[in-house]
Amino acid sequence: MGTQKREEIMVSREELLHQQEFEKKVSALLKKQYPSRMPMAYVHSYGCQQNISDGEKIKGMLAMMGYGFTDGIDGADLVLYNTCAIRENEEDRVFGNVGALKHYKRRNPNLLIALCGCMMQQEHIVEKLKKSYPYVDLIFGTHVVHKLPENLYHALTDGKRVFCTPESDGVIAEDLPVRRDGSIKAWVPIMYGCNNFCTYCIVPYVRGRERSREPEAILSEIEGLIKQGYKEFTLLGQNVNSYGKGLDEEINFSELLRRVNALPGDFRIRFMTSHPKDASRELIDTIAECEKVCNHFHLPVQSGSDRILDLMNRHYHREDYLALVEYARKKIPDISFTSDIIVGFPTETEEDFQDTLSLIREVEYDSLFTFIYSKRVGTKAAQMEDPTTDEEKGRRFQQLLDVQKEIGQQKYDKYVGQTLRVLVDGVGKSGDGYLTGRTENYVIVDFPGNREDIGKFVDVTITKALNWALLGEAKPVE
Ligand code: SAH
Ligand code: SF4
Ligand code: F3S
Repeated sequence: MGTQKREEIMVSREELLHQQEFEKKVSALLKKQYPSRMPMAYVHSYGCQQNISDGEKIKGMLAMMGYGFTDGIDGADLVLYNTCAIRENEEDRVFGNVGALKHYKRRNPNLLIALCGCMMQQEHIVEKLKKSYPYVDLIFGTHVVHKLPENLYHALTDGKRVFCTPESDGVIAEDLPVRRDGSIKAWVPIMYGCNNFCTYCIVPYVRGRERSREPEAILSEIEGLIKQGYKEFTLLGQNVNSYGKGLDEEINFSELLRRVNALPGDFRIRFMTSHPKDASRELIDTIAECEKVCNHFHLPVQSGSDRILDLMNRHYHREDYLALVEYARKKIPDISFTSDIIVGFPTETEEDFQDTLSLIREVEYDSLFTFIYSKRVGTKAAQMEDPTTDEEKGRRFQQLLDVQKEIGQQKYDKYVGQTLRVLVDGVGKSGDGYLTGRTENYVIVDFPGNREDIGKFVDVTITKALNWALLGEAKPVE
């Protein structure tokens, strides 16, 4: 682990130029194939922000090759699904959607079907696709995203299916073109992969080892985005707290935050995800001291039972976690917390589950991402005995939702009467003429306003708390 040399991690200049040659070849090919119109691509990314960010690079490369983009499969010449393997239902959804492509292909034999992302790094999935989904033309894994031009060229010209899913500890490809989904908020990966091997989790198997981008590359990407008018940057990594390991320069995540914070401009910084075992007091001091870093901490706890945390290989205990939360609340009184919880990990008892409930009551999260444990082939937990029935897990899950609903409502009620700074990012769901955005605390706020304010910071006085959002009125400019 961590023994990869830097030059093995970085995709070489020659390789990137080699791919640019293929970009030109594909572009010429498509011009011939579609002389009177642009070929259209339908690209959909499932899963976490890391995958969404990869999807933005894939779209960047496709745009360079001459593709336009469409929101529907009808009329698409290329359908590409960037898949997620985190839980069984995510995988089922992909298989369902790929199955549905069969009749599109029958109607349009020229339709090119491509699959990539985390599912493609699992042998049993690729085998299944090879055997039972013969109309899928191109499959590539998470470590060869930058080779899309070459792989697409072969898929378009070789007359046979292309599979490119090498095993790898992972690479970093800088300077790929990016076609971002939004113009206000941007995802900025700072590192890739994961070394933690939480026993339930597939990510370390499908994303390779932890590796960090150079700080200069990150800072210059953000500087460019600030110039383009972006107002919020979410620094991405499976465990941002281990940022910097393996770089020549001595730098940790807190130092990176300070450097991003020091860039001139009116913008916000968020980050995810932070593993509690590595979340340091220094990090909390840094959030407190950096005015652009939002007072919101997504700190996935997974379970409130020490026994289960040990079985999950999380390397922290309930008391460590609560001590960190307390320290943060003292330093930053208005900080908000969100978390991920897994219900029904193998051998979880009612008592373990009650420990989770008591922990969420103690922390008082603004909101939670809640999951029922899903067995993942190849992980350690997949071999553990799991006597709890699905019905029992369902009951616990519902109870968790009920308890959190109450806590969340109380938290949201506390915002009523406060004036909060909202980054407006679109039109609201609460009625005609409403705008929507998020507070620093990551809470959604809807308020009546003018579309011209989309992309701006607006001070909003909160008048009402719903269970999914706050409602408010823009404070008149003095
Ligand atoms: N690296 C991040 C999270 C990545 S996955 C972290 O460590 O927090 C996002 C969330 O999915 C996890 O926090 C966990 O709650 C959930 N998850 C991961 N594997 C799962 C599984 N096998 N079953 C159910 N939930 C899972
Ligand atoms: Fe998965 Fe754990 Fe890594 Fe998060 S830290 S990606 S949960 S192995
Ligand atoms: Fe899913 Fe891969 Fe992210 S498994 S959650 S898309 S890293």
